[in-house]
Amino acid sequence: MTASPHVIFDRVSFSYGDRSVIPELILALSERRVGLIGSNGSGKSSLLRLIHGLAQPTGGTVTTVGLNTKTDRKKIPSRVGFLFQDPDRQIIFPTVGEEIAFGFEEQGMTRQEARREALAWLSRYGKSHWLERGVQELSEGQKQLVCLISVIALQPGLILLDEPFASLDLRTRLAFARQLEALPQPLIMASHDLDFLARFDRILWLENGRIHADGPPEEVLAAYDAAARAQPEIIP
Ligand SMILES: Nc1ncnc2c1ncn2[C@@H]1O[C@H](COP(=O)(O)OP(=O)(O)OP(=O)(O)O)[C@@H](O)[C@H]1O
Ligand SMILES: [Mg+2]
Repeated sequence: MTASPHVIFDRVSFSYGDRSVIPELILALSERRVGLIGSNGSGKSSLLRLIHGLAQPTGGTVTTVGLNTKTDRKKIPSRVGFLFQDPDRQIIFPTVGEEIAFGFEEQGMTRQEARREALAWLSRYGKSHWLERGVQELSEGQKQLVCLISVIALQPGLILLDEPFASLDLRTRLAFARQLEALPQPLIMASHDLDFLARFDRILWLENGRIHADGPPEEVLAAYDAAARAQPEIIP
């Protein structure tokens, strides 16, 4: 556990219009690896969006890496990486090279340096031939890989990942899992991949925007698995 929490929720509530998604949440996260699990619609993506300041609380305060997500919102993207659940919401440039290079340019590199760096990162995954590829010509899993590389390459102080493995093939998933495990920065990750989360430090199980269980993976994942198996009839 690190000394000070990298995320603090102080009596945070969140609604879409008049629909309450998170009633009231008090939370401090200081572990290196935090996993978010829960049914579809339980609030995992909403929680990650609140942490990054992409969504603003209806009540209360979110503090991420020491920054108030409302008043310091503009400072957060350079400190905190965010991988969207849907790559199409993340991608803004036409080519893979431009997409990855953009963050490096934002960090002050020249266009040429940024392009070189993007190529180096693509090469690590055996994808140097993707540099000029149109992002929209890639498959869902390939797009997800480009987005993951874009986030990790910038080496942010905190990384938020919303179901990063959903569309990746087994080999790419294993390669990425190994890399995520080796990263020094703290990670907060929503996932349905319970095997990967088993090595995390802390698991939050959300249901209806509330924390249903919170603890080490051996307890929380086992309870989640048992609950899902005990109620298979709720799955249509
Ligand atoms: N843009 C939106 N407008 C209105 N309601 C929304 C919107 N996005 C999400 N919600 C609602 O907020 C709740 C939480 O959604 P959220 O996307 O955070 O869940 P999740 O746990 O990430 O689900 P999943 O496992 O399917 O990704 C759901 O009830 C959902 O219907
Ligand atoms: Mg989600």
